[in-house]
Amino acid sequence: FTLLRRVGAYLGEYLSQKSKVKGSFPDLSLERTSSNSSISTDEGFFEQPEPLPSSKAVVEKILWQRSLQMLDQQQTWQESPEGRRMLEFRRSLPAYKEKEAILSVISKNQVVIISGETGCGKTTQIPQFILESETESLHGAVCNIICTQPRRISAMSVSERIALERGEKLGESVGYKVRFEGMKGKDTRLLFCTTGILLRRLLVDRNLKGVTHVIVDEIHERGMNEDFLLIVLKDLLPRRPELRLILMSATLDAQLFSSYFDAAPIIKIPGFTYPVKSYFLEDILQMTGYRLTPYNQIDDYGQERMWKMSKQAPRKRKSQIASAVEDALRAADFKNYSPQTQESLLCWNPDCIGFNLIEYILSNICENERRGAVLVFMTGWDDISSLNDKLLAHPILGDPNRVLLLRCHGSMASSEQRLIFEEPEDGIRKIVLATNIAETSITINDVVFVLDCGKAKETSYDALNNTPCLLPSWISKVSALQRRGRAGRVQPGECYHLYPRCVYDAFAEYQLAEILRTPLQSLCLQIKSLKLGSISEFLSRALQSPELLAVQNAIEYLKIIGALDENEDLTILGRYLTMLPVEPKLGKMLILGAIFNCLDPILTIAAGLNVRDPFLTPLDKKDLAEAAKSQFAQDYSDHLALVRAYEGWKDAEVDQAGYEYCWKNFLSAQSMKAIDALRWEFLSLLKDIGLVDSNGTTCNAWSHDVHLIRAVICYGLYPGICSVVHNEKSFSLKTMEDGQVLLYSNSVNARETEIPYPWLVFNEKIKVNSVFLRDSTAVPDSVLLLFGGGISKGDADGHLKMLGGYLEFFMKPVVADMYLTIKRELDNLIQTK
Ligand code: CDP
Ligand code: MG
Repeated sequence: FTLLRRVGAYLGEYLSQKSKVKGSFPDLSLERTSSNSSISTDEGFFEQPEPLPSSKAVVEKILWQRSLQMLDQQQTWQESPEGRRMLEFRRSLPAYKEKEAILSVISKNQVVIISGETGCGKTTQIPQFILESETESLHGAVCNIICTQPRRISAMSVSERIALERGEKLGESVGYKVRFEGMKGKDTRLLFCTTGILLRRLLVDRNLKGVTHVIVDEIHERGMNEDFLLIVLKDLLPRRPELRLILMSATLDAQLFSSYFDAAPIIKIPGFTYPVKSYFLEDILQMTGYRLTPYNQIDDYGQERMWKMSKQAPRKRKSQIASAVEDALRAADFKNYSPQTQESLLCWNPDCIGFNLIEYILSNICENERRGAVLVFMTGWDDISSLNDKLLAHPILGDPNRVLLLRCHGSMASSEQRLIFEEPEDGIRKIVLATNIAETSITINDVVFVLDCGKAKETSYDALNNTPCLLPSWISKVSALQRRGRAGRVQPGECYHLYPRCVYDAFAEYQLAEILRTPLQSLCLQIKSLKLGSISEFLSRALQSPELLAVQNAIEYLKIIGALDENEDLTILGRYLTMLPVEPKLGKMLILGAIFNCLDPILTIAAGLNVRDPFLTPLDKKDLAEAAKSQFAQDYSDHLALVRAYEGWKDAEVDQAGYEYCWKNFLSAQSMKAIDALRWEFLSLLKDIGLVDSNGTTCNAWSHDVHLIRAVICYGLYPGICSVVHNEKSFSLKTMEDGQVLLYSNSVNARETEIPYPWLVFNEKIKVNSVFLRDSTAVPDSVLLLFGGGISKGDADGHLKMLGGYLEFFMKPVVADMYLTIKRELDNLIQTK
């Protein structure tokens, strides 16, 4: 009851504050324009001429004059020496040779599909062809072309490149718009943006007024956003008969797209690449001269060994590498195992032991090989930055007079980007560490050597990619070929695959479309926020529809957490969640953390849920590692333990002792860094939607109140709850669906004999033989009652039913009844206030 009273006070305080600032909290209409909302501040994509048009003729005249000016400018540029060189380069691209054919097909068809080898000039040339031909035709009308890219970095770098090719500054006829950033002007006619930005645009401008061409690039990636966009565009086409839709991709099943759009024509741009020699792990191993040594212990984290190795003499290191490789190779009948078993059998973790091998190959190339840049494919930005740190410490690879070491990933700064495309000075070798972004969306011209770690992960957190984070997983055969192909653009090349051939043979042919392999909760929210009608009906019209069950699960989950009401309409919470491109459970935590001014620990916890578990448990040091974790234990919560560990790391970082701190406490330094970066991202998102004021002064007033934090955790993780049943000397756990469940041995709660609260909330359960819970936090009845479910209008009944189910299952009916009455009263109170 103390807590109840306190929460009531918080809410009252919060609501009165909010109503002073900007009307009452629940009044969030999507159409409202506020300086904080990223959705509503989106002015139009393309600007119309500014003088108020007195007649249509005046407008046409202005547009006519602008087109003439643009033409003049281009002519002057193309006659200058620089311009002539550029034009020559453009003419050498395979796409240029198809210019007339492409334009003619586009003029005759509403939808066109274009495929061609990476680097043939699709992204940079085709939008330009359209722009040029439309300006030349001088119909008085103006073209407005939107070209979407799956990632922000490609939207930025491609628009910059096109401006360069046209001898203009970025923001003149060519511009870009990505979240948080953009560059466009009154004459911008060709706009590059991320798929997410176009989806957001559709939220307020359903007919894409004024847009003449939409180009969706890289559709072969089959990202969730792209598949989603295609459904929306397919609906739009009959309403906008003059709108043109162009789909572009490197390798794809063009027929699938063509039949989706009523047998739309397909244009294939012929391409050419030089032969590339492939080496697999076993070949590399032979080259290095390492002999395999028997190795009979598998631990699933090589991390710890890597730390040790970095302190050992090089000779010793050799055998360590060999042993890791041995693990990989002995999986002779690899294909017969499930993906999970493959993972553990291989124990080949490119982000740990693999680093040494990469270092070895790179230094070998630098010392012995011919000229040419090196492209290294890693899984994500955390790997890239760790590898970067490691290489910088190397005598050759870290020497700026010999090596230009660059990183290339989705969230890099634009200044760093430019260097990637430039040729280094003579005698300096360019090495680019990249994610799968360098597979097809950006092209580095001078690459001759490729290293491929065989894995990929969606960027751990991409503000525009409205999906939860994925762990690194094996790539497809098509991806491996693409990676290899990057080495043969200018001359014959070489590709080092850092995995055995048997692993390659086990790769899937194509990557499964994202919509078929990831949870659909965020997507469902988006469909609702775009007012696209029934979720399941809408998704049944997708290129490849997800299973009905997956859709139903997602809808059910959204109802339970209070994002959708009984009629599948968005609740207020749901609307806020659509504005936060993170998993709903993280979104909920962040929103409530901001509302209750205890944001700092919540940022850490939410970030922690998005990265690999920072608490390491090497098999041979299990006890030590668990003991190390228990030092951070407080208040029966793994989540709070993480907060403490993070804070300790942060303090140690000030004295540059972060690495030692991690080593001593069995923590992953990589995960800590990733958490640190994510915290910033989350904070800027919250500022963006106006839940935290720009200087963020008050959002931490209650950050030390563990009871409150516990409540916010519960709000996020519900319905992940289980009941604690105490026996004589210990306790057991039960969930409604699974009956008896167990805790992971490294959970701080697993070390307790007694838990003073009746419930545990958890983020994840994993079924092995029994059901295990990972990371849990103990909560009292009152917290579950207040925070189990959503606190928002319209969803009260649905929640009461759900929560009532839990309470009745575990409590005496009278008690459950009483709790429900309180909850109902509270909900009423909140609504009326
Ligand atoms: O989209 P696609 O993979 O077909 O190729 P693109 O991105 O249009 O690139 C065509 C050519 O432009 C590449 O082969 C590069 O040589 C060049 N390019 C460049 O030099 N700098 C850039 N920022 C982008 C492209
Ligand atoms: Mg491209």
